[in-house]
Amino acid sequence: MTLLVTGGAGFIGSNFVLNWFASANTNTEPVVTLDALTYAGNPENLSSLDDARHTFVKGDITDRDLIDRLLAKHRPRAIIHFAAESHVDRSIHGPGDFIRTNVQGTFTLLEAARAYWSKLPEKVEEPVRAAMGDDLNARSVDVCPTRESFRFHHVSTDEVYGTLGAEDPAFTEDHPYKPNSPYSASKAASDHLVRAWYHTYGLPVLTTNCSNNYGPFHFPEKLIPLMIVNALAGDPLPVYGDGQQVRDWLYVGDHCSAIRAVLARGIPGSVYNIGGWNEKPNLEIVHTVCTLLDELAPAATRGVVSSVTGRSVQRYAELITHVKDRPGHDRRYAIDARHIERELGWRPTETFETGIRKTVNWYLANGDWVKRVQSGAYREWVATNYAQR
Ligand code: NAD
Ligand code: TYD
Repeated sequence: MTLLVTGGAGFIGSNFVLNWFASANTNTEPVVTLDALTYAGNPENLSSLDDARHTFVKGDITDRDLIDRLLAKHRPRAIIHFAAESHVDRSIHGPGDFIRTNVQGTFTLLEAARAYWSKLPEKVEEPVRAAMGDDLNARSVDVCPTRESFRFHHVSTDEVYGTLGAEDPAFTEDHPYKPNSPYSASKAASDHLVRAWYHTYGLPVLTTNCSNNYGPFHFPEKLIPLMIVNALAGDPLPVYGDGQQVRDWLYVGDHCSAIRAVLARGIPGSVYNIGGWNEKPNLEIVHTVCTLLDELAPAATRGVVSSVTGRSVQRYAELITHVKDRPGHDRRYAIDARHIERELGWRPTETFETGIRKTVNWYLANGDWVKRVQSGAYREWVATNYAQR
């Protein structure tokens, strides 16, 4: 059987595909990665995969003919849908792409999945089912996907719930949707479509709403990789407003293990919130990154010079600069991840201390990757977003 992974050349998608092949108990199942390779998609993220079971297809999730062809050819038992425009700041500057990919793209995938799923056999024959035992996702039995076993896994965000006050309880799966940015509104719209395709058509969907991820292959427009990359270059570390906005940080490997758990044992039609039990204000995150860099790559030893003052940098925290806040900036996100723990036994394994150290080390070891993603388009974005702050 096969998985179709959309957005598999992006940050979380590529981590998922790499982890999938690295994980011993899933290593017989092929993966087809579909990705449009926007500025955020990078086939190099998957270049370490020398595996005949992996197929990469460059293409757009709004292209219905392409999706139909891929489903007919590969007959996947699940679609794991990561593909999205994902950056809040970009959604403020240009919301159109977010509506096209996140809303129209998810709609296209759902319709293609529904057409494919409705023609699958109802369930596996009894003798085969007996061989599989209780585990309908068993890899050892080579059977066709069925209407019963097929899954459409929609990867979403905690940002659909809106913002929390300092004392509010964390987001549960029943929290009302109150998205505040074009990004979160487009993701909320896609969540609603996924829900409706389950209730109206019976398509066996799973939705996961996850908090902020960090880790390898994170595009350096997002807070943590931007701070690492800017610090090493002697550039300002732009903290929006007072820097007291709170996010619940999760190491990307833990997000991938949560998705695997939901895919294997999640109940169709259910929503699972995924988080790190790790709320921290942005300013604390930036200071932590600076302190780790002081230890692992001291500015004085590297000869880092501030691009603003021209002076030598002694401690990276000297580069912290408070800039104009993001419009409509959500103050706090926090995930209550007890449902996924109770039902599926999932908990994150990394602490923030172990995860951030791994992440900083990865960026120090992969300077060439960073240089290659900092294309002309990237530099243009940085100039636009930070110019008037
Ligand atoms: P990303 O921006 O790094 O990657 C998105 C990928 O989707 C890229 O490879 C891009 O080329 C591809 N893509 C974009 N438009 C496409 C289209 N029209 N057709 C096909 N491919 C297209 O994003 P990410 O951080 O890896 O996020 C992945 C998913 O997880 C998104 O759905 C996002 O909403 C969700 N999510 C992200 C976070 C986070 O902290 N990054 C947290 C929770 C949920
Ligand atoms: P980001 O990584 O863009 O994720 P999201 O907006 O999806 O949570 O931002 C994380 C937090 O960091 C958010 O509160 C905005 C803030 N931030 C800065 O203070 N400076 C920056 O340069 C960036 C990119 C983000």
